Amino acid sequence: MTGPGKSMRQRMLDGELYIVTEEIERDSLHAQDLTRRINALPASAGEIKRKLLTELLGALGEGTEIRAPMQFDYGCQTFFGARCFVNFGFVCLDVARVTIGDDVLIATNVQLLTAWHPIDPQARRDKWEAGSPITIGDNVWLGGGAIVCPGVTIGANTVVGAGSVVVKDLPANVIAVGNPARIVREI
Ligand SMILES: CC(C)(COP(=O)(O)OP(=O)(O)OC[C@H]1O[C@@H](n2cnc3c(N)ncnc32)[C@H](O)[C@@H]1OP(=O)(O)O)[C@@H](O)C(=O)NCCC(=O)NCCS
Repeated sequence: MTGPGKSMRQRMLDGELYIVTEEIERDSLHAQDLTRRINALPASAGEIKRKLLTELLGALGEGTEIRAPMQFDYGCQTFFGARCFVNFGFVCLDVARVTIGDDVLIATNVQLLTAWHPIDPQARRDKWEAGSPITIGDNVWLGGGAIVCPGVTIGANTVVGAGSVVVKDLPANVIAVGNPARIVREI
């Protein structure tokens, strides 16, 4: 629903085009501050790290570990299942919802990018932007440096090769590699 009184923040959460307002900027700054505190913790500070991550994220399943440094746009839009492992350098632009299943492995420097800008030059100059949700199925392995583009869903057990750029949905139980990521075989 796009009511006339809908706030830009609600438009963002609903996956519609929006312009960043002070309210949205505040949410992002809050997430960035929290993320900086998490990234500055000693590696041994497991309990306090989990507490701060729980405050930051939409959900953090039991046994899920995220190594520092990490970056989130909003944090509250990212939902992790249980027993996931995320290695150094994770970037998650969660303008739209990011849903990560159970037992997902995310290698170093993976980027999940829900955010996008209009192709139309004037709309872009006018600062309209939007996000489309990303969904990563149970037991997926994203190789180092993989980039997942806005709106993509990856099915359970699928492996994405290092350095791949995933621009379209991938089904469950395949290996996909390259830019753009193409299926090389079924598992
Ligand atoms: C995808 C991967 C898992 C290999 O899977 P595999 O089933 O053993 O695939 P193969 O090695 O048989 O390769 C199949 C084809 O894909 C190509 N390929 C494999 N990995 C690729 C990659 N990351 N990017 C581009 N092409 C790749 C191979 O060259 C081969 O092509 P060919 O048939 O033309 O020779 C592995 O290459 C990979 O990328 N691993 C990620 C490692 C990583 O990120 N580690 C970080 C710690 S978690």
